[in-house]
Amino acid sequence: MINVNYIEFGEKISDHLRSLRAELHSNPEPSTFEEITSQIILKELKNIGITDIQTGLGNGKHGIIANIEGGLSGKKVALRADMDALAIEEETDLECTSKNKGYMHACGHDNHVAMVLGAANIIYQNKDKLKGSVRLIFQPAEELSPEGGAKSMILEGVLKDVDAIFGFHVWPELPFGVMGFKEGPLMAASDYFHVNIKGKASHAAGPENGVDAIVAGCEYVGAIQHIVSRNISAIDNAVITVGTINAGTRYNIVAEDFKVEGTCRTLSPEIRDLVENRLEEILEGICKVYGCKGELNYQRGYIPLINDSEMTKYAKKVALDLFGEKYVQDVKEPVLKAEDFGFYLAEKPGSFIWLGTAEQDKDYWPLHNSHFSPNDEVLYRGSAMLAKLAFEFTESNK
Ligand code: NI
Repeated sequence: MINVNYIEFGEKISDHLRSLRAELHSNPEPSTFEEITSQIILKELKNIGITDIQTGLGNGKHGIIANIEGGLSGKKVALRADMDALAIEEETDLECTSKNKGYMHACGHDNHVAMVLGAANIIYQNKDKLKGSVRLIFQPAEELSPEGGAKSMILEGVLKDVDAIFGFHVWPELPFGVMGFKEGPLMAASDYFHVNIKGKASHAAGPENGVDAIVAGCEYVGAIQHIVSRNISAIDNAVITVGTINAGTRYNIVAEDFKVEGTCRTLSPEIRDLVENRLEEILEGICKVYGCKGELNYQRGYIPLINDSEMTKYAKKVALDLFGEKYVQDVKEPVLKAEDFGFYLAEKPGSFIWLGTAEQDKDYWPLHNSHFSPNDEVLYRGSAMLAKLAFEFTESNK
C-alpha cells in the first residue's frame, strides 16, 4: 500500500481550501452560467501544477476535466464535483456571502469543487507514487433537471477509459465529518408530468349538455394516489405528488379544461415504467367513463442513483481506515431527492458518498435553504478521503 499521510496533507492545505471555497461561495452562478466558477477552478488547477486540462465542456460549456498521470501504470479513477448554484437569496451571516444577488450556493456545490481541488492538490504532490491516473471532473448544471449537466459531460467523453467514479454530497442530516455509505439505490429518479383533460363547456345549470372536466379531473387526481398503495409493493418506495391544478373559467360554467402538474420519484427502472404506464392507463379509463379527452405528457428527468456494491464497500473501508468507526455510517434508507451523478453510475461502477455537516448546538438548515452554510473544516477531510480513494483504487485489482 502507498504510504501517504492523507490527513496531514489535508490539514496543511485546509486554510487554502477554506479560502477557495469562500471565493466560490461569494460567486454563485446558476446552471450553464458557471463562468467565474470555471475560472477559479482553472486557476487553481494551474497553481497546483496540472497541465493536462480540457475546458469548455458540457451544458453551457463551463465544464472542465483534468488528468493527473501517475509515475507507474495502473487504473483510471474519476472524481466528480458539481459547480452550479441556485436562484435563492442568501441569508447566512458568512463573510463570503453571495456577491451575485438572488443566487446562492445553497446545495453545497462550492464545497464539492473545493474538496476535489484539494484532493487534486494532495494527489499531485504525491504523483510519483501514483499507479495509474486520476481524472477530475468539474460538472456544470447539476440543478438543471430534467436535462442536467452529467449527461452532456458523458457525451463529451469524460468517462472514456475510466474504471470507477466517486463523488461527494455534503449532507446536513448526518453528523459533522461522518460519511454515509449505501449500496444500491441512494437517490431517486425525478420525473415531471403534465395532464390535460378536455371536456365540453355548458351552462352550469345544464351540465347534461356539456362534459365536466372538473369532475373527471378530480377523479383522476384521486385515482392516481392509489398507484403507490395498490400497484407497488409496500417494501418499495415511490412518490407521486400533484403540485398544481388549474381548471375552469367561471363559477357558473361547466369547465372545459382541467390541467394537472406533478412529479414522480422512484428508485428502480421497473417501478418508474410502472408509474408512467399507470398514469396513462388511469387517464384513458377515466376519460372513457366521463366522455373526456385526455393527454399525458410525461418527461423523464434524472435516473435513480444506484451505488455499485463493491465500490461502496471499498469506499467505506477507505473511510474506516482514515477516520475510524465514529465517522462512518451505513445509510439505511434511500431518499427521494434526485442527483444526476446517477448517470455516471449507469455507465461505470462507483459510489456517491454523503458527507455530514450537522453540528451539535447549531441550527439545522437543510439543503436548498437560504441559511445553509456548513462548517468549512469539513473540506480537508473530504479532500483527504477522495485522495486516498483514488490512490488505493488505481493500484488495486478491483
Ligand atoms: Ni446538490
